[in-house]
Amino acid sequence: MSTLITNIAELMTQDLEHRVLKDAAVVVEGERISWIGAAADAPAADDAVDAGGRAMLPGWVDSHSHLLFAGDRTAEFEARMAGEAYAAGGIAVTMDATRATSDFDLTRLAMGRVAEAVSQGTTYLETKTGYGLDVEHEARSARIASTIADQVTYLGAHLVPAGQDPETYTDLVCGPMLAAVRPYVRWADVFCEEGAFNAEQSRRVLVACRDAGLGLRVHGNQLGEGPGVQLAVELGAASVDHVNYLAAQDVKALAASWSGWDPAAGVGERGTVATCLPACDLSTRQPLAPARELLDAGVQVALASNCNPGTSYTSSMAFCVTTAVLQMRLSVHEAVRAATYGGALALHKETGRDADGERAVGSIAVGHRADLHLLNAPSATHLAYRPGMPLTYAVWRAGTRER
Ligand code: NIG
Repeated sequence: MSTLITNIAELMTQDLEHRVLKDAAVVVEGERISWIGAAADAPAADDAVDAGGRAMLPGWVDSHSHLLFAGDRTAEFEARMAGEAYAAGGIAVTMDATRATSDFDLTRLAMGRVAEAVSQGTTYLETKTGYGLDVEHEARSARIASTIADQVTYLGAHLVPAGQDPETYTDLVCGPMLAAVRPYVRWADVFCEEGAFNAEQSRRVLVACRDAGLGLRVHGNQLGEGPGVQLAVELGAASVDHVNYLAAQDVKALAASWSGWDPAAGVGERGTVATCLPACDLSTRQPLAPARELLDAGVQVALASNCNPGTSYTSSMAFCVTTAVLQMRLSVHEAVRAATYGGALALHKETGRDADGERAVGSIAVGHRADLHLLNAPSATHLAYRPGMPLTYAVWRAGTRER
Protein backbone atom coordinates (compact mmCIF):
# COMPACT_ATOMS: atom_id res chain seq x y z
CA MET A 1 0.00 0.00 0.00
CA SER A 2 1.48 3.38 -1.02
CA THR A 3 0.32 6.88 -0.11
CA LEU A 4 1.25 10.07 -1.91
CA ILE A 5 1.29 13.11 0.35
CA THR A 6 1.29 16.09 -1.94
CA ASN A 7 0.89 19.88 -1.91
CA ILE A 8 3.51 20.26 0.85
CA ALA A 9 4.47 23.95 0.90
CA GLU A 10 7.79 23.33 2.67
CA LEU A 11 9.45 19.96 3.21
CA MET A 12 12.21 20.32 5.77
CA THR A 13 13.97 17.00 5.24
CA GLN A 14 16.82 17.33 7.77
CA ASP A 15 18.68 14.96 5.44
CA LEU A 16 22.46 15.10 5.02
CA GLU A 17 22.19 17.92 2.48
CA HIS A 18 19.85 19.85 4.80
CA ARG A 19 17.37 20.15 1.93
CA VAL A 20 14.27 22.27 2.31
CA LEU A 21 12.00 21.63 -0.70
CA LYS A 22 9.16 23.90 -1.76
CA ASP A 23 5.93 22.57 -3.38
CA ALA A 24 6.98 19.05 -2.53
CA ALA A 25 5.54 15.58 -2.18
CA VAL A 26 6.42 12.39 -0.31
CA VAL A 27 5.44 8.81 -1.06
CA VAL A 28 5.08 6.41 1.85
CA GLU A 29 5.14 2.71 1.14
CA GLY A 30 4.38 0.49 4.10
CA GLU A 31 6.58 1.75 6.94
CA ARG A 32 9.14 3.45 4.72
CA ILE A 33 9.58 6.57 2.62
CA SER A 34 9.88 5.48 -1.00
CA TRP A 35 10.06 8.81 -2.84
CA ILE A 36 10.47 12.55 -2.18
CA GLY A 37 10.66 15.43 -4.62
CA ALA A 38 8.74 18.15 -6.41
CA ALA A 39 4.98 17.68 -6.27
CA ALA A 40 4.85 18.13 -10.05
CA ASP A 41 7.06 15.05 -10.54
CA ALA A 42 5.37 12.77 -8.02
CA PRO A 43 4.60 9.19 -9.09
CA ALA A 44 1.15 7.68 -8.77
CA ALA A 45 0.28 5.86 -5.56
CA ASP A 46 -2.60 3.77 -4.20
CA ASP A 47 -3.86 6.64 -2.13
CA ALA A 48 -3.34 10.42 -1.98
CA VAL A 49 -3.39 12.97 0.83
CA ASP A 50 -3.53 16.70 0.11
CA ALA A 51 -1.31 18.48 2.63
CA GLY A 52 -3.08 21.72 1.81
CA GLY A 53 0.01 23.89 1.49
CA ARG A 54 1.30 22.99 4.95
CA ALA A 55 4.86 22.37 6.12
CA MET A 56 6.23 18.91 6.80
CA LEU A 57 9.12 17.91 9.08
CA PRO A 58 10.47 14.60 10.29
CA GLY A 59 8.63 13.42 13.42
CA TRP A 60 10.35 14.55 16.58
CA VAL A 61 12.91 12.16 18.06
CA ASP A 62 12.74 12.53 21.83
CA SER A 63 16.00 11.05 23.06
CA HIS A 64 15.53 11.71 26.77
CA SER A 65 12.40 10.99 28.81
CA HIS A 66 11.39 9.35 32.09
CA LEU A 67 7.86 8.11 31.40
CA LEU A 68 7.66 5.23 33.89
CA PHE A 69 6.35 6.89 36.99
CA ALA A 70 3.35 7.41 39.21
CA GLY A 71 2.50 10.16 41.67
CA ASP A 72 2.55 13.91 41.62
CA ARG A 73 5.15 16.53 42.51
CA THR A 74 3.12 19.68 42.11
CA ALA A 75 4.03 20.82 45.62
CA GLU A 76 7.74 20.53 44.84
CA PHE A 77 7.23 22.55 41.68
CA GLU A 78 5.31 25.22 43.58
CA ALA A 79 8.08 25.42 46.18
CA ARG A 80 10.62 25.82 43.41
CA MET A 81 8.66 28.60 41.79
CA ALA A 82 8.60 30.25 45.23
CA GLY A 83 12.38 30.20 45.29
CA GLU A 84 13.56 26.78 46.48
CA ALA A 85 16.41 25.17 44.56
CA TYR A 86 15.98 21.86 42.71
CA ALA A 87 17.65 18.91 44.44
CA ALA A 88 17.89 15.29 43.37
CA GLY A 89 16.02 14.15 46.51
CA GLY A 90 12.59 14.62 44.92
CA ILE A 91 13.24 11.45 42.92
CA ALA A 92 12.53 9.48 46.12
CA VAL A 93 8.97 10.83 46.24
CA THR A 94 8.33 9.44 42.78
CA MET A 95 10.08 6.19 43.66
CA ASP A 96 7.64 5.57 46.53
CA ALA A 97 4.59 6.31 44.38
CA THR A 98 5.91 4.22 41.48
CA ARG A 99 6.68 1.19 43.63
CA ALA A 100 3.16 1.36 45.08
CA THR A 101 1.52 1.28 41.65
CA SER A 102 0.42 -1.92 39.91
CA ASP A 103 1.93 -3.09 36.61
CA PHE A 104 -1.38 -2.41 34.94
CA ASP A 105 -1.60 1.18 36.16
CA LEU A 106 2.06 1.94 35.53
CA THR A 107 1.68 0.68 31.97
CA ARG A 108 -1.52 2.67 31.47
CA LEU A 109 0.10 5.85 32.77
CA ALA A 110 3.17 5.43 30.57
CA MET A 111 1.08 4.60 27.49
CA GLY A 112 -0.96 7.75 28.08
CA ARG A 113 2.23 9.80 28.13
CA VAL A 114 3.44 8.21 24.89
CA ALA A 115 0.07 8.99 23.30
CA GLU A 116 0.36 12.62 24.41
CA ALA A 117 3.82 12.84 22.87
CA VAL A 118 2.77 11.23 19.59
CA SER A 119 -0.23 13.55 19.30
CA GLN A 120 2.27 16.44 19.34
CA GLY A 121 4.48 15.03 16.61
CA THR A 122 6.90 12.75 18.47
CA THR A 123 7.40 9.57 16.47
CA TYR A 124 10.43 7.95 18.13
CA LEU A 125 11.28 8.05 21.79
CA GLU A 126 13.65 6.80 24.39
CA THR A 127 12.61 6.36 27.99
CA LYS A 128 14.41 5.46 31.19
CA THR A 129 13.92 3.40 34.31
CA GLY A 130 15.05 5.14 37.48
CA TYR A 131 12.03 5.34 39.76
CA GLY A 132 12.22 1.69 40.90
CA LEU A 133 15.66 1.77 42.50
CA ASP A 134 15.69 -1.80 43.71
CA VAL A 135 16.16 -4.97 41.69
CA GLU A 136 12.49 -5.92 41.51
CA HIS A 137 11.17 -2.48 40.60
CA GLU A 138 13.93 -1.49 38.19
CA ALA A 139 13.41 -4.77 36.32
CA ARG A 140 9.67 -4.14 36.27
CA SER A 141 10.14 -0.60 34.92
CA ALA A 142 12.53 -1.87 32.25
CA ARG A 143 10.11 -4.58 31.20
CA ILE A 144 7.15 -2.21 30.95
CA ALA A 145 9.25 0.47 29.25
CA SER A 146 10.29 -2.02 26.58
CA THR A 147 6.63 -2.39 25.63
CA ILE A 148 5.89 1.32 25.25
CA ALA A 149 9.08 3.03 24.04
CA ASP A 150 11.35 2.60 21.03
CA GLN A 151 14.50 2.46 23.15
CA VAL A 152 14.98 1.89 26.86
CA THR A 153 17.71 3.15 29.16
CA TYR A 154 18.64 1.66 32.52
CA LEU A 155 18.89 4.39 35.17
CA GLY A 156 19.31 2.43 38.38
CA ALA A 157 21.93 5.08 39.19
CA HIS A 158 19.36 7.86 39.52
CA LEU A 159 19.50 8.31 43.31
CA VAL A 160 20.83 6.39 46.28
CA PRO A 161 17.63 5.47 48.16
CA ALA A 162 17.43 6.86 51.70
CA GLY A 163 19.19 4.81 54.34
CA GLN A 164 21.38 2.93 51.87
CA ASP A 165 25.13 3.10 51.75
CA PRO A 166 26.15 4.71 48.42
CA GLU A 167 28.94 2.22 47.75
CA THR A 168 26.76 -0.79 48.50
CA TYR A 169 23.96 0.63 46.36
CA THR A 170 26.41 1.25 43.50
CA ASP A 171 27.47 -2.41 43.75
CA LEU A 172 23.82 -3.40 43.43
CA VAL A 173 23.38 -1.19 40.34
CA CYS A 174 26.48 -2.75 38.77
CA GLY A 175 25.57 -6.32 39.70
CA PRO A 176 22.18 -7.93 40.36
CA MET A 177 20.12 -4.94 39.21
CA LEU A 178 21.99 -4.72 35.92
CA ALA A 179 21.53 -8.45 35.34
CA ALA A 180 17.79 -8.14 36.00
CA VAL A 181 17.20 -5.25 33.58
CA ARG A 182 19.64 -6.40 30.90
CA PRO A 183 17.12 -8.26 28.69
CA TYR A 184 15.01 -5.13 28.28
CA VAL A 185 17.45 -2.26 27.79
CA ARG A 186 19.87 -0.95 25.19
CA TRP A 187 21.44 1.91 27.14
CA ALA A 188 22.65 2.74 30.64
CA ASP A 189 22.64 6.18 32.20
CA VAL A 190 23.94 7.65 35.44
CA PHE A 191 22.98 10.85 37.25
CA CYS A 192 26.51 12.15 37.77
CA GLU A 193 25.90 15.10 40.04
CA GLU A 194 26.42 16.28 43.57
CA GLY A 195 23.65 14.70 45.65
CA ALA A 196 23.42 11.75 43.26
CA PHE A 197 26.47 9.76 42.07
CA ASN A 198 30.05 11.03 42.28
CA ALA A 199 32.65 10.59 39.54
CA GLU A 200 34.04 7.35 40.89
CA GLN A 201 30.63 5.76 41.41
CA SER A 202 29.44 6.98 38.01
CA ARG A 203 32.49 5.51 36.32
CA ARG A 204 31.92 2.18 38.06
CA VAL A 205 28.32 2.05 36.84
CA LEU A 206 29.18 3.07 33.30
CA VAL A 207 32.04 0.59 32.97
CA ALA A 208 29.96 -2.29 34.36
CA CYS A 209 27.13 -1.47 31.98
CA ARG A 210 29.47 -1.09 29.02
CA ASP A 211 31.01 -4.46 29.88
CA ALA A 212 27.50 -5.90 29.88
CA GLY A 213 27.06 -4.67 26.29
CA LEU A 214 25.01 -1.53 26.90
CA GLY A 215 25.59 1.80 25.19
CA LEU A 216 26.19 4.70 27.54
CA ARG A 217 24.47 7.97 28.33
CA VAL A 218 25.18 10.42 31.17
CA HIS A 219 23.14 13.03 33.05
CA GLY A 220 25.89 15.59 33.55
CA ASN A 221 26.67 19.18 34.46
CA GLN A 222 23.04 19.97 35.32
CA LEU A 223 23.38 21.66 38.68
CA GLY A 224 26.96 22.86 38.47
CA GLU A 225 30.24 22.20 36.73
CA GLY A 226 31.33 18.63 37.35
CA PRO A 227 32.89 15.50 35.93
CA GLY A 228 29.89 14.31 33.86
CA VAL A 229 30.92 15.62 30.45
CA GLN A 230 34.53 14.48 30.72
CA LEU A 231 33.48 11.04 31.88
CA ALA A 232 30.94 10.73 29.07
CA VAL A 233 33.50 11.65 26.43
CA GLU A 234 36.22 9.46 27.91
CA LEU A 235 33.96 6.42 27.98
CA GLY A 236 32.50 7.05 24.54
CA ALA A 237 28.96 7.77 25.71
CA ALA A 238 26.46 8.39 22.94
CA SER A 239 25.13 11.43 24.76
CA VAL A 240 25.62 13.65 27.76
CA ASP A 241 22.41 15.32 28.79
CA HIS A 242 21.59 18.60 30.57
CA VAL A 243 25.03 20.29 30.05
CA ASN A 244 23.96 23.54 31.71
CA TYR A 245 27.29 24.31 33.36
CA LEU A 246 30.18 23.78 30.99
CA ALA A 247 33.82 24.76 31.44
CA ALA A 248 35.81 25.61 28.34
CA GLN A 249 37.49 22.20 28.48
CA ASP A 250 34.09 20.48 28.48
CA VAL A 251 33.08 22.17 25.23
CA LYS A 252 36.50 21.33 23.81
CA ALA A 253 36.23 17.67 24.80
CA LEU A 254 32.76 17.37 23.27
CA ALA A 255 33.93 18.98 20.03
CA ALA A 256 37.00 16.74 19.90
CA SER A 257 34.82 13.67 20.31
CA TRP A 258 33.41 14.40 16.82
CA SER A 259 36.78 14.65 15.07
CA GLY A 260 36.32 11.23 13.44
CA TRP A 261 32.88 12.06 12.11
CA ASP A 262 32.07 13.40 8.66
CA PRO A 263 28.84 15.38 9.13
CA ALA A 264 28.34 15.94 5.39
CA ALA A 265 28.36 12.20 4.69
CA GLY A 266 26.93 11.14 8.06
CA VAL A 267 29.64 8.51 8.47
CA GLY A 268 32.63 7.91 10.70
CA GLU A 269 33.00 7.50 14.41
CA ARG A 270 30.19 9.10 16.34
CA GLY A 271 31.17 11.28 19.26
CA THR A 272 29.16 12.32 22.30
CA VAL A 273 26.02 14.31 21.51
CA ALA A 274 25.28 17.20 23.87
CA THR A 275 21.58 16.90 24.63
CA CYS A 276 19.96 20.11 25.79
CA LEU A 277 16.72 20.00 27.76
CA PRO A 278 15.27 23.51 27.67
CA ALA A 279 11.92 22.66 29.29
CA CYS A 280 13.83 21.26 32.26
CA ASP A 281 16.10 24.30 32.41
CA LEU A 282 13.08 26.59 32.63
CA SER A 283 11.23 24.42 35.13
CA THR A 284 14.26 24.27 37.42
CA ARG A 285 15.25 27.88 36.83
CA GLN A 286 18.70 26.81 35.72
CA PRO A 287 20.56 28.74 33.06
CA LEU A 288 19.67 27.45 29.61
CA ALA A 289 22.27 25.05 28.22
CA PRO A 290 24.71 26.84 25.90
CA ALA A 291 23.45 25.21 22.71
CA ARG A 292 24.65 28.07 20.50
CA GLU A 293 28.19 27.84 21.83
CA LEU A 294 28.16 24.05 21.45
CA LEU A 295 27.02 24.19 17.83
CA ASP A 296 29.56 26.90 17.03
CA ALA A 297 32.28 24.71 18.52
CA GLY A 298 31.33 21.82 16.21
CA VAL A 299 29.46 19.69 18.75
CA GLN A 300 26.46 17.66 17.60
CA VAL A 301 23.48 18.85 19.64
CA ALA A 302 20.11 17.25 20.40
CA LEU A 303 17.02 18.76 21.98
CA ALA A 304 14.83 16.50 24.11
CA SER A 305 11.86 16.88 26.42
CA ASN A 306 13.19 15.16 29.57
CA CYS A 307 9.54 14.50 30.37
CA ASN A 308 9.49 13.56 34.07
CA PRO A 309 7.43 14.50 37.13
CA GLY A 310 10.19 16.44 38.89
CA THR A 311 11.97 18.78 36.56
CA SER A 312 10.15 18.82 33.23
CA TYR A 313 6.57 17.62 33.14
CA THR A 314 6.07 18.09 29.42
CA SER A 315 6.63 15.97 26.35
CA SER A 316 6.25 18.94 24.02
CA MET A 317 9.19 18.90 21.65
CA ALA A 318 7.67 21.92 19.90
CA PHE A 319 8.05 23.86 23.16
CA CYS A 320 11.72 22.85 23.28
CA VAL A 321 12.25 23.95 19.68
CA THR A 322 10.47 27.25 20.29
CA THR A 323 12.61 27.92 23.37
CA ALA A 324 15.78 26.98 21.51
CA VAL A 325 14.99 29.58 18.86
CA LEU A 326 13.65 32.35 21.07
CA GLN A 327 16.01 31.96 24.01
CA MET A 328 19.01 29.87 22.97
CA ARG A 329 19.68 31.65 19.67
CA LEU A 330 19.37 28.66 17.36
CA SER A 331 17.90 29.17 13.92
CA VAL A 332 14.62 27.36 13.26
CA HIS A 333 16.46 24.92 11.01
CA GLU A 334 19.08 24.22 13.70
CA ALA A 335 16.46 23.74 16.41
CA VAL A 336 14.32 21.41 14.30
CA ARG A 337 17.45 19.49 13.33
CA ALA A 338 18.47 19.07 16.97
CA ALA A 339 14.98 17.75 17.80
CA THR A 340 14.94 15.28 14.90
CA TYR A 341 18.30 14.28 13.39
CA GLY A 342 20.15 15.26 16.58
CA GLY A 343 17.95 13.01 18.69
CA ALA A 344 18.42 10.18 16.21
CA LEU A 345 22.20 10.65 16.37
CA ALA A 346 22.05 10.53 20.16
CA LEU A 347 20.21 7.21 19.89
CA HIS A 348 22.39 5.85 17.05
CA LYS A 349 19.35 5.71 14.79
CA GLU A 350 20.28 8.32 12.19
CA THR A 351 21.27 5.72 9.62
CA GLY A 352 19.82 2.39 8.68
CA ARG A 353 22.94 0.50 9.54
CA ASP A 354 21.57 -1.25 12.64
CA ALA A 355 22.36 -4.95 12.57
CA ASP A 356 18.70 -5.68 13.20
CA GLY A 357 17.72 -3.95 9.96
CA GLU A 358 15.73 -1.20 11.63
CA ARG A 359 15.20 1.93 9.57
CA ALA A 360 16.78 5.32 10.21
CA VAL A 361 14.67 7.98 11.89
CA GLY A 362 15.00 11.74 12.34
CA SER A 363 15.21 12.76 8.68
CA ILE A 364 13.10 12.45 5.56
CA ALA A 365 14.95 10.40 2.96
CA VAL A 366 14.20 7.41 0.77
CA GLY A 367 14.43 4.20 2.78
CA HIS A 368 14.06 5.90 6.13
CA ARG A 369 11.17 5.15 8.45
CA ALA A 370 8.12 7.13 7.42
CA ASP A 371 7.95 9.31 10.54
CA LEU A 372 6.35 12.52 9.36
CA HIS A 373 4.96 15.60 11.07
CA LEU A 374 2.66 17.90 9.16
CA LEU A 375 2.25 21.34 10.72
CA ASN A 376 -0.86 23.45 10.48
CA ALA A 377 1.32 26.22 9.06
CA PRO A 378 3.07 26.95 5.78
CA SER A 379 6.58 26.84 7.24
CA ALA A 380 8.51 25.51 10.21
CA THR A 381 9.27 29.09 11.20
CA HIS A 382 5.75 29.22 12.64
CA LEU A 383 6.96 26.97 15.49
CA ALA A 384 8.83 29.99 16.85
CA TYR A 385 6.72 32.72 15.31
CA ARG A 386 3.54 31.37 16.97
CA PRO A 387 4.86 30.05 20.30
CA GLY A 388 2.59 27.75 22.22
CA MET A 389 0.11 27.26 19.40
CA PRO A 390 -1.12 23.72 18.68
CA LEU A 391 0.55 23.40 15.28
CA THR A 392 0.57 19.63 14.86
CA TYR A 393 -1.88 18.81 12.05
CA ALA A 394 -1.04 15.22 11.12
CA VAL A 395 1.47 12.58 12.23
CA TRP A 396 2.65 9.40 10.50
CA ARG A 397 4.64 6.95 12.61
CA ALA A 398 6.36 4.15 10.72
CA GLY A 399 3.96 4.84 7.86
CA THR A 400 0.81 4.68 9.96
CA ARG A 401 -1.25 7.82 10.35
CA GLU A 402 -1.55 8.45 14.08
CA ARG A 403 -3.38 11.74 13.93
O1 NIG B 1 16.66 14.57 34.15
N1 NIG B 1 18.46 14.70 36.58
C1 NIG B 1 17.98 13.64 36.89
N2 NIG B 1 16.81 13.15 36.53
C2 NIG B 1 15.69 13.92 36.12
C3 NIG B 1 14.95 14.42 37.28
C4 NIG B 1 14.11 13.43 37.84
C5 NIG B 1 13.28 13.89 38.99
O2 NIG B 1 13.55 14.89 39.67
O3 NIG B 1 12.33 13.15 39.22
C6 NIG B 1 16.14 14.99 35.16
O4 NIG B 1 15.95 16.17 35.36
